[in-house]
Amino acid sequence: MVIKALVWDGLIRMYLLRAHLRTRFNTLSLNCIGAIAEQAVSGLTDEEKNEMVVTPWEVRGKVDYERLIREFGTQPLTNELVRRLAKYTGEVHLQLRRELFFSHRDLDTVLDLYDKGTKFVLYTGRGPSGPVHIGHLVPWIFTKHLQEAFHTRLYFQMTDDEKFVVDDELKLAETTEMGYDNALDLVALGFEPEDTFIIYDVQDIDLLYDIALEVAKRITYSTAKATFGFQESTNLGWVFWPAVQAVPCFIHKKLTGENVPALIPAAIDQDPFWRITRDIASKLGYFKPAQIHNRFLPGLGIGGKMSASEPDTAIFTVDPPDVVKRKVWKAFTGGKDKAAEQKKEGANPEVCSVYQYFLYLFEEDDKKLAERERQCRTGGILCGECKKDLTERINRFLAEHQKRREKARNTIEKYHIKR
Ligand code: TYM
Repeated sequence: MVIKALVWDGLIRMYLLRAHLRTRFNTLSLNCIGAIAEQAVSGLTDEEKNEMVVTPWEVRGKVDYERLIREFGTQPLTNELVRRLAKYTGEVHLQLRRELFFSHRDLDTVLDLYDKGTKFVLYTGRGPSGPVHIGHLVPWIFTKHLQEAFHTRLYFQMTDDEKFVVDDELKLAETTEMGYDNALDLVALGFEPEDTFIIYDVQDIDLLYDIALEVAKRITYSTAKATFGFQESTNLGWVFWPAVQAVPCFIHKKLTGENVPALIPAAIDQDPFWRITRDIASKLGYFKPAQIHNRFLPGLGIGGKMSASEPDTAIFTVDPPDVVKRKVWKAFTGGKDKAAEQKKEGANPEVCSVYQYFLYLFEEDDKKLAERERQCRTGGILCGECKKDLTERINRFLAEHQKRREKARNTIEKYHIKR
């Protein structure tokens, strides 16, 4: 156990160093995204402009989801749509009940078509730059729920190519290997092997390349620059890359001859890819891909999303129990400095990272969640107790997940996309 912890600590340190280098690199490229975003947000004060950045490659600051709906031009997920989904799923999934999914594009159109007998396929993915954290699991858990309810195919893209071109530090062999490793997490969640098709970009490029070219030919550099903030110094691989993320929206027709829309569950950071894909879909004879967007699971620090580049405030699916305990113990909460003060005045669950984990993943029972919130606000429970409960729940979940992850090594090949 001690040796395992030491090895893990070494890996985390290496990761931290890389994260630092990566952040420096990303900040450079984001300066330009900022410049382009400025045109879109010119009515806002300087403070507002500086506080939030949400791009496919970086999320920072306090995320204002209503503002994202306005600026990205998506639609809020209404109660009516949630009810329409529940007609098929039979229950309102926890992630919908707690409004973790909050926005969409064309979900209504997909359901209209479905009502009339046109199916859809699911599509989501992962950029394998490091181990999977529990934030990544959020859209995958919901995707599995949809797959079970609608008995539909899932195309899952593992973008080892993307992570190689956007990250100065990573080698192609590393992202490719990480892709196979990350796929174990997907399989561990229990997706149906007959209905799940993992695409490893580098290995499967022969399947993707013709559609990627059709897409790339129809998107100008100026559109891509305005959408992603590319600069003079951006490498060519990165500039072409968004065409590759578009391909699984359309691949079902090539494989089966069936032309149906794709529905993409993912956090809102991926939305820029779909904007450009939707613009060219009908030119190529496809349905526009639809989306359902989730909020970010926060990190264990103050504000910001859970991110692999902040390993001390992220829970990775491969974390051993003592590492989870250490991270949760250091988590930012809405508590007071002194226990006596908190017992008297209560704490604030709204800003508490620990409470968010109960809300989004680790307390299914609405009544128990409401009781925890009440106790927190009135000083009936202290942060140490919540941290202890959360550590236990995360470790229970991870113990099961890690067992299934190991077993997945025997079945992983069944999930690889077939020709
Ligand atoms: P990646 O690897 O950055 O993220 C994988 C998925 O996790 C979501 N996500 C989160 N959700 C909740 N809380 C968080 N803290 C959090 N952090 C990340 C992301 O939105 C994503 O859905 N380019 C993509 C890979 C990809 C893809 C796709 C993703 C290719 N095709 C289609 C979604 C849909 C990427 O690097 O994802």
